[in-house]
Amino acid sequence: MCFYPKGMMKIIAINGSHTGKRGYTHFLIEKLFNGAKQEGAECEEITLAKLKINICKGCSVCNTEKHLLKCIYEEKDDVTMIFNKMREADIIIYATPIYVFNMSGLMKVFLDRMNATGNSEDFKLSESGLFFHHISRDICSKPFVTLICHDNFENEMSKNVVSYFRTFSKFMDAPQIGTIIRRLGKLTGYGKDSEKEKQYPKILESYKAIEFAGKELVTKGKISKKTQKTASRDIIPIPFFSILKNFKAFKKKALEKLKTE
Ligand SMILES: Cc1cc2nc3c(=O)[nH]c(=O)nc-3n(C[C@H](O)[C@H](O)[C@H](O)COP(=O)(O)O)c2cc1C
Repeated sequence: MCFYPKGMMKIIAINGSHTGKRGYTHFLIEKLFNGAKQEGAECEEITLAKLKINICKGCSVCNTEKHLLKCIYEEKDDVTMIFNKMREADIIIYATPIYVFNMSGLMKVFLDRMNATGNSEDFKLSESGLFFHHISRDICSKPFVTLICHDNFENEMSKNVVSYFRTFSKFMDAPQIGTIIRRLGKLTGYGKDSEKEKQYPKILESYKAIEFAGKELVTKGKISKKTQKTASRDIIPIPFFSILKNFKAFKKKALEKLKTE
């Protein structure tokens, strides 16, 4: 049974990749959307790289009595339009590549603009008991999925972003309904090289799981732990790679092998 009546759920993906629709982040969003659309969801990708997103100046005009919650850039760039789309959505996908151990600059610049939607003088406790202030719940508190991709195979690489969105969830009262981390994009050809995918066939299992995750968002309202695990799985065809990759001695040997090949 559908969690939402067919055609009722709206999902928007905010793509923070600086390469926009040419990139791997877009490819992964499309996979997720394929599944969600099969269950009747209405899906839209918002490509930040194509839009005008000004950097918050920290002027705090948005927190003065006269201009409360009104950013100086309202109507001057595309953020108001994005916030309006977020208001109408049931689920938000925050999709970002890792850039130097963190989310993309563009994604962070966008998220910083949420600051203008909250009244920092109006103190509140978050649902998880954290001391915070008023937020615009219709924008910030939507159930969300974090979709992360990067080239390295280390789990450590995405830790900052995973941690950021956990904190975001707690302060913003936004249910985190799934996290997908797709490592080794470069090695597997960023979804554009079937020859590379033949060398790493487990990547196709991951893509299938990402598609299934899209279905689950509509039918269950969240991505199951099992699907998140398969979608984020290691794809190197070495037995026990997920365990071995935690050992320096194993990596040293692999590195030596790589250098002699
Ligand atoms: C500026 C920059 C910094 C990057 N830093 C990292 C990094 O720290 N770790 C990593 O694994 N990949 C890193 N990458 C690789 C990207 O995360 C990876 O190629 C990702 O798939 C890019 O997504 P896109 O194709 O949507 O742009 C970096 C790429 C760029 C452009």
